[in-house]
Amino acid sequence: MKIAVLPGDGIGTEIVAEAIKVLEVLDLPFEMETALVGGAAYEAHGHPLPESTLKLAKEADAILFGAVGDWKYDKLERALRPEQAILGLRKHLGLFANFRPAICYEQLVGASSLKPELIAGLDILIIRELTGDIYFGQPRGRRTAVDGHFPGAEEAFDTMRYSRPEIERIAHVAFQAARKRSKRVTSVDKANVLETFQFWKDVVTEVGKEYPDVALDHMYVDNAAMQLVRAPKKFDVVVTGNMFGDILSDEAAMLTGSIGMLPSASLNSKNQGLYEPSHGSAPDIAGKGLANPLATILSAAMMLRFSLNQPEAAARIEKAVKAVLSQGLRTPDIYSEGTAKVGTMQMGDAVVRAIG
Ligand code: IPM
Ligand code: MG
Repeated sequence: MKIAVLPGDGIGTEIVAEAIKVLEVLDLPFEMETALVGGAAYEAHGHPLPESTLKLAKEADAILFGAVGDWKYDKLERALRPEQAILGLRKHLGLFANFRPAICYEQLVGASSLKPELIAGLDILIIRELTGDIYFGQPRGRRTAVDGHFPGAEEAFDTMRYSRPEIERIAHVAFQAARKRSKRVTSVDKANVLETFQFWKDVVTEVGKEYPDVALDHMYVDNAAMQLVRAPKKFDVVVTGNMFGDILSDEAAMLTGSIGMLPSASLNSKNQGLYEPSHGSAPDIAGKGLANPLATILSAAMMLRFSLNQPEAAARIEKAVKAVLSQGLRTPDIYSEGTAKVGTMQMGDAVVRAIG
């Protein structure tokens, strides 16, 4: 089995290094190969997703990804910006199913900006469709308006669209995931305004009929954003489109105390997967040893479970993460009084030790 390791930019290299330490101590039979991606690849090869990196990713059983992006690339044309690397990998590998679990560890209840009683015991799973919607819809671009409020003015536009098979397959993923949990799915849409999301709601409802044992409800995205901070524990599996999922998963991250704790998995229909922390490259703290490596370490655990068929090794990592939190070790993002502040490497070392 082969893992493509793509650390990327900013804190990406630091946090991926810690995840690799953890994977190595498990002594499992796979090889790892590292390649440049994002701004780092642009500097070296003139493109954020060079052919060689894409080839390595396609051939691997799983991809461990750090993060991409830096403000210094904001002025580049869109096709060369670091973000295109992750969007390109999602598209070229068909990674349509994005799992973003938001679990509030009991040790971190105090680290969230929400009241402890709202989030203690929180365990929700956001399933975000990842290769469709307004992110990839064509046409898009800039032009001169021919109608609208200001005909003749310069305008920009994107296309929101979903086809029936795209909605069906992500709905199946959600219902099947719900069967392994508490058998509840909330589908988030904007059917009151958008044609695309009325269709989404209709198709999810149809697919839901094949899962009579799973309770399905529907919620408008604005309400879902509100309910997520009002009563987050009412949710179990949340399934939604690419754009709403992007926004709601960042919101859900804060329920867990820090986005530095949130892993993610993006799978295609062959169970090939890309595993990355839900957070970004945080260039402001890059190279300072301040970043929390736990989201990446937990992403490595998801990789072992979903793509490499090593559920026991995955469980060992997850147990070790809980152990270091119980020891009171905290990177700055999850630090609170009475705990011990540690850096990126110390946190990784502690997880390695806890695996034993
Ligand atoms: C995410 C990120 C990406 C997205 C960016 C980096 C393109 O925000 O994975 O949530 O918008 O999907
Ligand atoms: Mg995002």
